[in-house]
Amino acid sequence: MMYRQRRLELLQRVQAWYPNITGNIVIAASYENPRDTLWQDSTFWYFTGLNEPGAVVVISSEGTQTLYLPEYGEDRTVWMQCEGDITQCGFDEIRPLGNKMRGYQPTMWFAAEEHVNIIAALRGGHIFACIPSYANNKYIAQRWMLERWSLFIPDILQRCHDISPCVASLRRCKSSYEIELIQHAVNITLEAQQSVAQALCDGILESELHALVMYTFIKHDARAAFPPIVAGGHRATILHYHANNQPIHANELVVVDIGASVQGYAADITRTFAINNTFTDRQRYLYDIVCEAQTSVFQHARPGMWLCNTAEPDRSLHHQAIAVFKRYGLERYFVHSIGHFLGLDVHDVGNVQEPLRAGDVITIEPGLYLHEEGIGIRQEDDYLITDHGARCLSGEQR
Ligand code: GLY
Ligand code: MN
Repeated sequence: MMYRQRRLELLQRVQAWYPNITGNIVIAASYENPRDTLWQDSTFWYFTGLNEPGAVVVISSEGTQTLYLPEYGEDRTVWMQCEGDITQCGFDEIRPLGNKMRGYQPTMWFAAEEHVNIIAALRGGHIFACIPSYANNKYIAQRWMLERWSLFIPDILQRCHDISPCVASLRRCKSSYEIELIQHAVNITLEAQQSVAQALCDGILESELHALVMYTFIKHDARAAFPPIVAGGHRATILHYHANNQPIHANELVVVDIGASVQGYAADITRTFAINNTFTDRQRYLYDIVCEAQTSVFQHARPGMWLCNTAEPDRSLHHQAIAVFKRYGLERYFVHSIGHFLGLDVHDVGNVQEPLRAGDVITIEPGLYLHEEGIGIRQEDDYLITDHGARCLSGEQR
């Protein structure tokens, strides 16, 4: 069973990372929020494939795998579609987190009684969890659960050891099954880009294009992996423009940066279009340079290169893009990094201090943003790093 195997591999990595201490590994699920359906925590999803909110996995040092579930006070199946047969998920034990809670929806503000069993299990000994010391947007559910438990188990954080590097190294290298899912998300995203290209006309609203993207995603039972960016004219110089509510005119470009999410796996593809495919000379000049940078980076992408390495620019894809822009005196208009890992998170986990390896999936997304001219251009594709190079998952590269 794939998820059980992943949990065992995690245990092995944690034991190798911390050879002198033993304890329980803890992996927490996320919670539903009132504005959206559940977005399961990526790490919990990776190790369980379960869309259950508020659940917790504990793996003991002997390898016993226990799933703790909320004890619902009401029949959840009356309100929500629930997971199938959880007993088939490869756990040695399934236990309630604690006493009955109110209602059918666990909340992140749970009371101690609702977690009384897991609190008892975590009262002593070492604990391994994803609690990196740096502040970023990763491992939110993991960090939240530990912080909440620390109200009821005051010394828990002192006994807790960070295993995010072990999790990141497992999640970073994609299996063929995961690559298939990413490819599926990519194909849906390309179809959405195609629907935008076909609809473009003078005066069309960004919101109409956004709606077409969502139509395509939903039609294929996919979600948006991140808020779609549909930015016409000068708005394309705002990297994460989300208002998507202005008309686009004939002499303007539009940057469309979108990604479907399929069974948790994200695509991330950006296209820059001109209405009726009619670029001004200046727009075409800049667009071609962005494409040249993307091709050049792709040709350099292989194991042993870094996404970004300031100390060794010759082995850095980011610096490869800068080198192209420098030839045209445009490097100061390339204001973000060349790309990122892609997977269950659109900016996926993985140590960027280590060189690329076969099995990594990355984006290559050079761009130019000229505020004074009101021009923003970005091209972004998704790539699998192979033994000797990179394979583009989102187009015929080029
Ligand atoms: N596609 C959005 C980003 O990479 O930030
Ligand atoms: Mn991206």
